[in-house]
Amino acid sequence: KKILFVASEAVPFVKTGGLADVVGSLPKCFDQEYYDVRVMIPKYLCIKEDLRNQMTYVDHFYMDYLGQSRYVGILQCVWDGITFYFIDNEGYYQGPKPYGEWYQDLEKFCFFSRAALSSLPVIGFQPDVVHCHDWQTGLIPVLLKDRFREGDFFRNMKSVITIHNLKFQGVWDVKTIQALTCLPDYYFTPDKLEAYKDGNLLKGGIVYADAITTVSETYAQEIKMPFYGEGLDGLMRAREGSLRGIVNGIDYDEFDPETDSYIVENYNLRNFRKEKEKNKAALQKELSLAQDESKFMIGIVSRLTDQKGLDLVQCVMDELCQDNIQLVILGTGEERYENMFRHYAWKYPDKVSANIYYSEAMSHKIYAACDAFLMPSLFEPCGLSQLMALRYGTVPVVRETGGLKDTVEPYNEYESKGTGFSFANYNAHEMLGAVRYAQRIYYDKRREWNKIIDRAMSKDYSWKTSAMKYQELYDWLTGC
Ligand code: ADP
Ligand code: GLC
Repeated sequence: KKILFVASEAVPFVKTGGLADVVGSLPKCFDQEYYDVRVMIPKYLCIKEDLRNQMTYVDHFYMDYLGQSRYVGILQCVWDGITFYFIDNEGYYQGPKPYGEWYQDLEKFCFFSRAALSSLPVIGFQPDVVHCHDWQTGLIPVLLKDRFREGDFFRNMKSVITIHNLKFQGVWDVKTIQALTCLPDYYFTPDKLEAYKDGNLLKGGIVYADAITTVSETYAQEIKMPFYGEGLDGLMRAREGSLRGIVNGIDYDEFDPETDSYIVENYNLRNFRKEKEKNKAALQKELSLAQDESKFMIGIVSRLTDQKGLDLVQCVMDELCQDNIQLVILGTGEERYENMFRHYAWKYPDKVSANIYYSEAMSHKIYAACDAFLMPSLFEPCGLSQLMALRYGTVPVVRETGGLKDTVEPYNEYESKGTGFSFANYNAHEMLGAVRYAQRIYYDKRREWNKIIDRAMSKDYSWKTSAMKYQELYDWLTGC
């Protein structure tokens, strides 16, 4: 079976969040004998030069778009056994980042969606299923049901759309979206691409895809409710028969404390008790925190946005910093959170380290060094950071929502169960209570704490099970 992933980002080429991890790591986990899964993303200029140099030219053609004949280049690179295609256009993908101004993004991803489909006959790759990801590719299921149907090449192609984050939908006024999508009036009614009088690309994808998935079972339920539905909960309810939650996994080769070359001391389930502390000591030194391996160290690696529950952290920062803890933050995002963490790092230099930048290496060091990992998200479709933390024996403290609820089992001291700590309500002191409960177990019941780590590290959040679920979905869609 032939499957094409189409998305706006994929590791190792370009990443702004978990979407890239998923699109880059899932394809190699399918049964390669039966599933030929390839990936297509834009060829951004911001892809590192050494990776760009590995791409080879495949072909090019010209596509009519917005009244002009536009160049569409196709490049290719085989990475870890998977074929990645890159859609090139000098005008659209030259920016310093994959995303920029909203309006320009809408145009560049409408162009990309159209160019992606149009390039398939040129490459000679005819997928049975086109698997789209998020709003950037929401137009594809619509096109597959529309004019692209007329040609034999596209007639039997099925589409899947995976919602990684319902908050971002690709919305602008109807007139603009209609111009950018080049679709007739017929599509701009409230049962199709129109939502609340605007044009909405993700909605188009959800209405027209043959199947819809999202990245955890709980999120699949949550988005049918107004609180999490971002205005599309009615549509999610209407399409619930075609909606499935399939939890994300992580790349177990890339994230492996036993072989990770970013960390100073490798460790595994048998020797983490001693070795993990060495990573903590090294990080304390590197970040100029107080040198004390016995301190309870909490990590945050995150986009600094409202989604991640950082206003809860802000609310209790002073109280938290009265505790015997250290807090290491790595992230970029909204200025108010960047400055908030900088402020507390200045106020409590021994205790708080604010690293306001993006670094793969530093993220691995934090996953390895910390005792606990804080992720109090307001909503979380899946979340990969807590899976990375579990893999490194760093105990997650999370809010019970979306994928966090599905992947972190709350500690139960009476039954000696659980892999982390959690709280239910979006409330700063409830969160602080969970952090303090974790601290208490760490300081007063170290054997219990180590058993939590044991259980966390024994969990399997590789792609194995979830890749099989996607395979079942593809089989079902293609009728065999
Ligand atoms: P989201 O996709 O909503 O940002 P996820 O938890 O699914 O959240 O994925 C986040 C990914 O981005 C993880 O791989 C995490 O380690 C990584 N990440 C986030 N911020 C940074 C940063 N500043 N430096 C390095 N990695 C980061
Ligand atoms: C989104 C979500 C995150 C999820 C990721 C990958 O960015 O915010 O929860 O893990 O996509 O699916």
